[in-house]
Amino acid sequence: MSIAVFASGDGSNFEVLVEKSRRQGWPEPVTLMLTDRPKAQVLERAKRLGVTAVVFNPSDYETKAAYEQAILSVLGEFGIRRILLAGYMRIVGPVLLEAYRWRILNIHPSLLPAFQGKDALEQALNYGVRWTGVTVHWVDEGIDTGPIIEQKPVLVEPGETVESLRRKVQFVEHNLYPAVVRKWLTGKILPPDGRESGRH
Ligand code: GAR
Repeated sequence: MSIAVFASGDGSNFEVLVEKSRRQGWPEPVTLMLTDRPKAQVLERAKRLGVTAVVFNPSDYETKAAYEQAILSVLGEFGIRRILLAGYMRIVGPVLLEAYRWRILNIHPSLLPAFQGKDALEQALNYGVRWTGVTVHWVDEGIDTGPIIEQKPVLVEPGETVESLRRKVQFVEHNLYPAVVRKWLTGKILPPDGRESGRH
């Protein structure tokens, strides 16, 4: 049984997760990277790290259900038990949610429920908040609405730009996400239904 990471962009969180998962004592390997974007930078990272990468382009499928069914069969082939969303910019639909209920985590660059959806950093800067941050949460049918597992704040300083804020937020993400995942893998974080992941 192993872990798949879903990513749409640069893949810095994917890389950190793979690196941490290769250290001693990590209980479950990351064996698959799935992207919905054929030209995503994360594909280069997967190649360099030697992680199998698959591309599922939604425009190749007539419906979201068909797209997710195709994904589901590959996840089955790889024995994937858990999914980590890491900059996967797509709403997870009922097909995947039902098959992987409370076995999908997401990381989001804000203190949810503030600034859901896309461009969370821009939203925070435009709003003028003094603090933003990072949230790791369970994935449900909404956009960044699932039960929160862990949050870490990030200070927005005078003169902050999207790029400077991104660097600070990602530094926090790269520590927080693997730490939360490790706790989940070792049974220190239980799913909202209270059942151990993967036993149903
Ligand atoms: C991360 O900051 C992640 O929190 C964000 O996308 C970035 C991906 O960076 N996710 C979302 O905004 C989800 N709503 P990465 O590709 O370098 O890991």
